[in-house]
Amino acid sequence: MCGIVGYVGADQALPLLVEGMERLEYRGYDSAGVAIIENGKIATARKAGRLDALIDEVERRDLPGTIGIGHTRWATHGGPTDENAHPHVDCSGTIALVHNGIIENHDVLRARLSREGHRFASATDTEVAAHLIESIIHERSCSLREAVLEAVDVLEGAFALVCISSDEPDRIVVARQEPPIIVGAADGIGLVASDIPALLKHTRDVIPLDNRQVAEVLRGAVTVFDFEGNEVEPPVVHVEWDMEAAEKGGYEDFMLKEIFEQPEVVRNTLRGRVDLGGRVRLDEVHWDDETLQGITKVVVVACGTSFHAGMAAKHSIEHYTRIPVELDLASEFRYRDPVLDETCLVIGIAQSGETADTLAAIRYAKEMGASVVAITNVVGSSITRDADAVLFTHAGPEIGVAATKTFLAQLVALNLFALYLGQQRLSMEPQKVAETLAAMEALPDQVEEVLLLEDEVRRAAKRYADARDFIFIGRGVGTAVALEGALKLKEISYIHAEGYPAGELKHGAIALLEPGVPVVAVMTGAKLYDKMLANVEEVRARGAEVILVAPRGDERARALADQLLEVPSTKPLLSPILDTIPLQLLAYFITKEKGLPPDKPRNLAKSVTVE
Ligand code: M6R
Repeated sequence: MCGIVGYVGADQALPLLVEGMERLEYRGYDSAGVAIIENGKIATARKAGRLDALIDEVERRDLPGTIGIGHTRWATHGGPTDENAHPHVDCSGTIALVHNGIIENHDVLRARLSREGHRFASATDTEVAAHLIESIIHERSCSLREAVLEAVDVLEGAFALVCISSDEPDRIVVARQEPPIIVGAADGIGLVASDIPALLKHTRDVIPLDNRQVAEVLRGAVTVFDFEGNEVEPPVVHVEWDMEAAEKGGYEDFMLKEIFEQPEVVRNTLRGRVDLGGRVRLDEVHWDDETLQGITKVVVVACGTSFHAGMAAKHSIEHYTRIPVELDLASEFRYRDPVLDETCLVIGIAQSGETADTLAAIRYAKEMGASVVAITNVVGSSITRDADAVLFTHAGPEIGVAATKTFLAQLVALNLFALYLGQQRLSMEPQKVAETLAAMEALPDQVEEVLLLEDEVRRAAKRYADARDFIFIGRGVGTAVALEGALKLKEISYIHAEGYPAGELKHGAIALLEPGVPVVAVMTGAKLYDKMLANVEEVRARGAEVILVAPRGDERARALADQLLEVPSTKPLLSPILDTIPLQLLAYFITKEKGLPPDKPRNLAKSVTVE
């Protein structure tokens, strides 16, 4: 998500840190900062906004020193402000650190450390790590490395932590639990970065830390330990990529990279929101149970892909809570004179948080007295200011114009929210909540399994790339997947594609079917399975080509498919989270077959800020 750089050597650190951060700009960020040690003291500079703002700041000040760390932040906890930008320091200003990931038990640690007298200067989860390390050093009189090794046992969640201490001005200490972090050493310098592009200028031989490892990076040397403190011999990887390939993590396009990031995205969006007792914990949603009990209607407003996430969420919310849900395209909502009052809960979904129609819709809803919850991927975006509560998806910056990983994150967040409503309103048995959460926790591994379809989808794309029209059909939550599959295909490959509820086909669109037209059928959603099979038979009878996204091992589906894409089974309401992925890949590979640029489709923008 965020970008990290670290340097220790003979040259001035600041220009090298800034250069490394510039190399990571493509990832997207909302603030940036550096910390440098000189004469036994740490100096920091942190600025919200573009890197230029930080550069202006450091040009005004003198920040000499040959060891330092830098960070470009994509806000998750605490808005994108100067105070929340990394690096964060401890009370004494001896330790500075930067962090990628989410520290799940930050609130418990913050409370404990505050009781012990630590003073916090930001709203971030990260800052607790600086104070925690300070308190360990204070108690044990130990080294930075020893303190970090002890801290990693206390910190829960995901973290790549990179720390410096003015008491040990010759080393950078790095810890990894999940988010990737790379270290390296070359001719008298030591290097750290979250991504390869930031290192390429200095070295092509890098050490990607393994999960649960700590590294001590010195001038010209790196030592790696496991979390138990045993020294380990890490493999050194030689990087062949050029800069552009490195930015895309070796993938050909950002869209493909983002599709492959989805296991992590699902994991991150669940992180810290499921407690050990099998309950949903949404700290961001602060309505009391009485208010939640009083909700008489939910209205979902969104555009494009976010609208499709809302379409799937309607099923979950109604099933778990028995509250009626209306679904509206945000661009239509306020012009239809909707019936709204204080007992209505409006959910506005926008990955960018800036879609003009969605913002206008939720503002209108607020004027009518409704409560508004926003689901967005961008901390500090406009929607977060207008809503009463915000549930963030933790997909990290999405660079491809076509929404992929943010869609999956929305589906996860919306399912969590639906479960939360059911749990708090007691419309769901605790056992059912726990079972559904267990199924959600299995999703990241299942998403990984679905991604193994890559080669099969690539072959299917070759076969159908010249089609003039595509039809996508589904039922229940599968309809939302079908509509999303059609949108993905049309927006990047420019092939005409229609998404349809399968039962509606015979009321009109079936006239489009003729031999050779590819029809993608999303088969999951258990109770509708037989009906879907019947619809597929209708399609086959017209000579169309049938591409089935179906549960693994189903012989009936196999018998009907010209091309079968099998996905693992999950609870029907969660199935869009898995079923969408083959359709994202199909759109991507067809676009590549046609020689078109998937990341930058014509006429489209990542944020649609006009009505
Ligand atoms: O930022 P939002 O989620 O509000 O964006 C809504 C649509 O503009 C967006 O989903 C659009 O349809 C994408 N191009 C889909 O890939």
